[in-house]
Amino acid sequence: MASPLKILFVASECAPFAKAGGLGDVVGALPKALKALGHDVRVLIPRYDTIKADTIHHQAPMAIPMMGTELWCGVEETRLPRSDVPVYLLDHRELFGRGYIYDPPNGHSPDNLVRFCTLSRGAFWLGRHLQWVPDVFHCHDWPTAAIPLYANTLERDTPFGGAATVLTIHNMAHQGIFSKRQLPLTHLPWSLYTSDGIETHDAVGLLKGGLFHASMITAVSPKYAREIRTREGGFGLEHVVNFRGGDLVGVLNGIDDQLWDPRTDRHIAHHYDVDSISEKVHNKRALQRELHLDVRDDVPLVAVVSRLNDQKGTDVIAEAIGPLLNLGIQLVVLGSGDPHTEATLAAWSHHGGGRMRAWIGFDEPLSHRITAGADLFLMPSRFEPCGLTQLYSQRYGTLPIVRATGGLDDTVEQYDGQGGGTGFKFWDLSVRSLVESVRWAAGVWRKRPEHIRSMQERSMRKRMGWDVSARQYEDVYRWSIERRRGR
Ligand code: ADP
Ligand code: GLC
Repeated sequence: MASPLKILFVASECAPFAKAGGLGDVVGALPKALKALGHDVRVLIPRYDTIKADTIHHQAPMAIPMMGTELWCGVEETRLPRSDVPVYLLDHRELFGRGYIYDPPNGHSPDNLVRFCTLSRGAFWLGRHLQWVPDVFHCHDWPTAAIPLYANTLERDTPFGGAATVLTIHNMAHQGIFSKRQLPLTHLPWSLYTSDGIETHDAVGLLKGGLFHASMITAVSPKYAREIRTREGGFGLEHVVNFRGGDLVGVLNGIDDQLWDPRTDRHIAHHYDVDSISEKVHNKRALQRELHLDVRDDVPLVAVVSRLNDQKGTDVIAEAIGPLLNLGIQLVVLGSGDPHTEATLAAWSHHGGGRMRAWIGFDEPLSHRITAGADLFLMPSRFEPCGLTQLYSQRYGTLPIVRATGGLDDTVEQYDGQGGGTGFKFWDLSVRSLVESVRWAAGVWRKRPEHIRSMQERSMRKRMGWDVSARQYEDVYRWSIERRRGR
């Protein structure tokens, strides 16, 4: 094996400690797969006050230059569960002890530039604190996109100046845009405030700057890596992505196949695997009872587990509920987000009798029970960088119905009419085409159970763990180090 690398993941989320979506799942799982390949991988996240960690070891505090002074931060250390990957929690009560990751419910946090630049700069000070110089800083989305900026300016002539930076794009729609008046608080120099740096429409754009300055860039699926080069997928940064096109790689997300395993899942009542798929129906009945749906084996149960927002196309689901229920299916939705969608779903849930239930909120155990209990899993995303829930559902033999965008297109194989494929794909995002796609899938489910069975077997046998992608990241890290040295 080539020499092991020292890799520091720096992120705003890391499951199970802090999670708002799939970013948390990735940061909570990929480091374990890299560790298994022999690398010295560690993780740094903020110490939000919502974090519950069993064994926290307190280190001496450290000072981070920020806001024209030195911010004294605590450093706590724990581990990723079932691993020996160290997770460092950067503790600063005023910045992170607020009961939320990004913004308060229905509100806006005005100092996110300082909060996440403190995290980003803190990565270097953690290195000093531990006397550990990473070969690679692995940054994720706008919250840690300032790391390449610090690396190329304030840290350039320090021992960290030689470290490579890899910036992974999980979602181009969020770019970390802030008033330029706040820039001095971060200590980032004004020399970065140019159109080929952080300046964007007379404001500071962290993601834009990170894209220009990172040694390498990855996107979370090959198709998404292509989509962000286009006007539709680039959200105004497509020219930057194209400029860096030679340093951009799409690496598909994997899943934590210990947490998401129908043979051992601690949240579901009836375990099963590819050789006992018939046992899955017990989870369906349990879910129907739990959610007060009619307990019926002969009705296809279609599920949605999602943030409720534009990206996910859940507004179209809300609009389509009437015609969907007319197909004679059952519909379960777990999610929260857009208030209008929440209200529509809640109203249908109230009046939908035994056919429709919406659970508004974030409920991890319930998401597992739904994934195991449903027959079909609906995901009509407008765009989807990768998507993890369609991977979880395939692992559980719950066949996805997806809009063929981004990672959904990369990870779902279209039903071929003969029993091949792992799900159902459609292209046009409209009520009509959503309903037609569900009609199609439900029809196959009713009339061709042998096809459904062979698709379930195929999807449950798919290799979805992180081992394959971890090797691809390994290559990306080595290329990024070469590029850094060549610069
Ligand atoms: P995104 O990160 O865009 O939200 P992903 O599919 O990558 O989409 O990841 C979403 C993650 O969040 C999955 O682990 C999914 O199970 C979880 N999730 C989303 N909504 C809920 C919810 N309401 N309750 C529990 N888990 C949820
Ligand atoms: C983002 C994307 C999602 C992806 C996740 C993890 O939240 O919306 O598609 O799976 O990040 O990479």
